[in-house]
Amino acid sequence: MEVVICPARPEHEEVGRVAADVYAPYVARGGVIGLATGSTPLPMYRELRRRVEAGELSFANCTAFLLDEYVGLPRDHEQSYYQTIRRELTNHIDIDDARVFSPDGTADNPDEAGVAYDKAIAEHGGIDIQLLGVGTNGHVGFNEPGSSLGSGTRMKTLHPQTVIDNARFFEDDPNKVPHHVLTQGLGTISRAGHLLLLATGAGKADAVAALVEGPISASCPASILQYHPHATVVVDEAAASKLTRREYYEFAYENKPEWQQY
Ligand code: F6R
Repeated sequence: MEVVICPARPEHEEVGRVAADVYAPYVARGGVIGLATGSTPLPMYRELRRRVEAGELSFANCTAFLLDEYVGLPRDHEQSYYQTIRRELTNHIDIDDARVFSPDGTADNPDEAGVAYDKAIAEHGGIDIQLLGVGTNGHVGFNEPGSSLGSGTRMKTLHPQTVIDNARFFEDDPNKVPHHVLTQGLGTISRAGHLLLLATGAGKADAVAALVEGPISASCPASILQYHPHATVVVDEAAASKLTRREYYEFAYENKPEWQQY
């Protein structure tokens, strides 16, 4: 696992630039890319959009799979992840909209929809790079603490903390946040070729310390990155503030040979 700590100001834009550098080669080769929603990826999405507008990057040959979706929100609801990813990224780049897939949160049988989603990912040859945020409680996708490490895409119940964290997207009213979601499972996420996790802000410091330096455990679902052969964690100073081996991560990054890719 490589840990990159971004010192520059404004910090979040620097995280976005470094993350875009990690992600762009997969886009350039027309890969199968995994997308995430939430606030953390937004600086990276802004940077990717800038590169497309500048003619430096094209998504024309890419296929995209989203991490998760609320169960029961219609696709045209502005907070559905179907709409969110289009608003934040895919409507502004040259990807074919028919190739932007997300779990079907409106399906009569969400578990069958989850199985179908994993099948669709496999039929496209698997995800080359999966972008991840992390919850304050260590969730990735919406795999809350206690999720099976080998799980496939299925329905999960949000942790009350996640409901509170996401209320900001629902008029600050936790009662308006759907309590069920369809999420790529930890097994699904682990099958991606490269995992890129971003975290910004002091509120993520405990989760980052647990996922990078704690035990691999269902209690911190993001700790699956430790077991993955190719994982990159890009954080800002605040999110890195509880890492005990920070000096080593910075030393390793500064001394990274030029030929070595992310
Ligand atoms: C979003 C997702 C979640 C978020 C996480 C952090 O698709 O799967 O795991 O990445 O809740 O959210 P933010 O980035 O809003 O702090």
